[in-house]
Amino acid sequence: MNKHFETIAVRDQIERTGNKEHSVPLYLTSGFVFDDAEEMRASFAEEKQRDLYSRYSNPNTNEFINKVCKLEGAEAGFAFASGMAAVYSTFAALLNSGDHIVSARSVFGATHGLFTKYFPKWNIETSYFGVSEVDTVESLIQPNTKFIYCETPTNPGVDVIDMEYLSAIAKKHNILLIVDNCFATPYLQNPIKFGADLVIHSATKLIDGQGRVLGGITVGSNELIREIYLFSRLTGPSMSPFNAWILSKSLETLAVRADKQCDNALKLAEYLENHPKVKWVKYPFLKSHPQYEIAKKQMRLGGTIVSFEVENGVKGGKTFFDNIKLCSLSANLGDSRTIVTHPASTTHAKLAEADKLAVGITAGMVRCSLGLEHIDDIIEDIEQALAAV
Ligand SMILES: Cc1ncc(COP(=O)(O)O)c(C=O)c1O
Repeated sequence: MNKHFETIAVRDQIERTGNKEHSVPLYLTSGFVFDDAEEMRASFAEEKQRDLYSRYSNPNTNEFINKVCKLEGAEAGFAFASGMAAVYSTFAALLNSGDHIVSARSVFGATHGLFTKYFPKWNIETSYFGVSEVDTVESLIQPNTKFIYCETPTNPGVDVIDMEYLSAIAKKHNILLIVDNCFATPYLQNPIKFGADLVIHSATKLIDGQGRVLGGITVGSNELIREIYLFSRLTGPSMSPFNAWILSKSLETLAVRADKQCDNALKLAEYLENHPKVKWVKYPFLKSHPQYEIAKKQMRLGGTIVSFEVENGVKGGKTFFDNIKLCSLSANLGDSRTIVTHPASTTHAKLAEADKLAVGITAGMVRCSLGLEHIDDIIEDIEQALAAV
């Protein structure tokens, strides 16, 4: 019988030890021992499948990876120290000098930094498409294009990209579609179902859900993950067993947290839609969202992030942030505590002004990551901060 998301997230765990523990213990060990020289040789030669050294694998990381693979519908995965380690290692393992990437213009600031600052050093160029111009993607493909890359929903604009459309182009040109699924998590959206070849997560966000640890993961086919694994076991970006232990337990509560946080987000978005101090509000499950139909097709719920623009530009934005009392001013997202961020001066500050505008990051834009507090208290805080604008 195919188990439901919640059951897999709670019940999928590594084998119990002789101590018959109910909750999986923490395997805080860098290495593992062998019975004899032959076992050690066979293990290193990969004739025997087992844990050797925690840079390669560890019972806690194995459990976290196996769970995410089942929840995403993937064959295999590798877990990383952070979301950016997952993004970088996935690209570095699979790209060669002279390759080309076609990417959505709206990608996380650090990913954009890899494309613009570091990959050109290795003769890897990137062409960009706007979220409302997916019909231009095919024209950007060159003979040396290796990947189409996107985030959906995007950070911070919560734009939504049609993965089925992109995957049809990728398949036609025999290239890969890679999706950063950080904003949706495996609970809200499974990109593999829509044709993605690899799915990347920053587990630091809603997967952890309590703002405690960093983590990342890439999942996909056995063949592609094997390449990523071989690169990573040499270069060492692996997730620590401690973080994997935390994150695997976090997955147990992901569905209930996401249900509540998405409900809070929809309620806040609806409230802001009619607010006189708000120029615009974007949330994937608002009918006014430009890609509402695509969001409904791809996502179970609209996500936990709402973006909006306050009146009076930079001055209005500053006044809003300075008057916030309950919500946190922080750069993280997906936490149990509601967080408001000013992308233009923080997470996306390194983008040139023209690039910021091209991806819809305006001076007074606020990214709000809804937490688990009561929605009335969140709205009360935002209401009094908006009143000061
Ligand atoms: C969409 C997206 N991808 C990747 C990352 C990077 O994740 P991490 O901070 O875990 O390195 C972030 C972080 O905010 C993100 O929002």
